[in-house]
Amino acid sequence: MQTAFTQLIGVSLPIVQAGMAGVTTPEMVVAAANSGALGTIGGGYLSPDALRQQIRHVKSRTNNPFAVNLFIPKANASDATDLKQMREILAPIRTRLGLDAMSDAAPEPPRFEDQLQVVLEEGVPVFSFTFGVPAPAVMDACKQQGILTLGTATTVEEALELERVGTSAIVVQGAEAGGHRGTFLPYVREPLIGSFALIPQVADAVSLPVIAAGGVMDGRGLAAALALGAAAVQMGTAFLASPESGAHPLYQERVKQAIETDTDVTKAYSGKLARGIRTKWMEQLATYHASIPPYPIQHYMTQEIRKRAAELGMTDYMSMWAGQGVRLATEHFVADIISDVMQQAQRVIHGLSSNWPTA
Ligand SMILES: Cc1cc2nc3c(=O)[nH]c(=O)nc-3n(C[C@H](O)[C@H](O)[C@H](O)COP(=O)(O)O)c2cc1C
Repeated sequence: MQTAFTQLIGVSLPIVQAGMAGVTTPEMVVAAANSGALGTIGGGYLSPDALRQQIRHVKSRTNNPFAVNLFIPKANASDATDLKQMREILAPIRTRLGLDAMSDAAPEPPRFEDQLQVVLEEGVPVFSFTFGVPAPAVMDACKQQGILTLGTATTVEEALELERVGTSAIVVQGAEAGGHRGTFLPYVREPLIGSFALIPQVADAVSLPVIAAGGVMDGRGLAAALALGAAAVQMGTAFLASPESGAHPLYQERVKQAIETDTDVTKAYSGKLARGIRTKWMEQLATYHASIPPYPIQHYMTQEIRKRAAELGMTDYMSMWAGQGVRLATEHFVADIISDVMQQAQRVIHGLSSNWPTA
């Protein structure tokens, strides 16, 4: 199935396995790439060394193109936020989980510049990004090295901005999508536009290949996305319960049981809106929504709690990102999910065209 996306990237299938920070494993990326899809390393939280290791692992097991996904840092992130209230909310939870009082030292997240350096040095074929627009120097460096770029948009306006800076193709993320919202323009209200409405509007506005993300779980979703003007789909939730997934076993269990009403969007874990399976922590913080420190501060403030909760198997405090299509997630191998999607999409497309009344 050739589309503007497969031709641009040099893959055989119009499917991207989403780079899911903290969940994607090199095994998942290799399985996706060797199936003919574009596999993506979710590198957002990885140290430069860990990222390099994952890239080399993938390179040693596939000759097909693959991508690395990173988070674009906010240029004017303020550290003047009042953290007192959040510290007070977190204190009893830390005690319950047997953690010491929170240290005053600010955590040191991996620097985007260092992660990007690894991407450039390793000659990764595709650089995928979310949460913003890279600086012109970053886009130039990728162009010079022949690295293709995939940027994430959640509105037509964001898609136009990505096109303007020279992105190769645009991931259009609908409100159904699991994980963090890629929204980067300063909207007063977070735009939560569904894929069905958003894909054709972006496809009309830009001349780049559009990759539909959000709620695509099987071949029906792929066929629908293509019909709406997309040239490929990016799937995340569909791979969460696969054997190659790095998600915690209890998280995978919840994914297998969850239904479409079980997810919600929240800032409780990271300070940036994201969709996941509803937890006690999300409900507890709902009343404080306006005073949650912005991303990435809240992410690092809750990091130890999430880690300890995972060790103790307490899903109440774990982040379990998943999209609204979660009921359709299976525990199949990545390669089988991809081949099922393709076969079903072909049946659906054929069925539609053969059922169409001829004048
Ligand atoms: C567990 C999880 C983690 C995610 N992490 C990232 C990430 O690190 N970078 C990114 O660009 N998108 C991330 N996403 C969003 C995906 O790229 C994509 O938009 C989404 O999975 C598509 O919707 P779906 O989950 O309904 O398939 C994540 C999604 C999930 C489910």
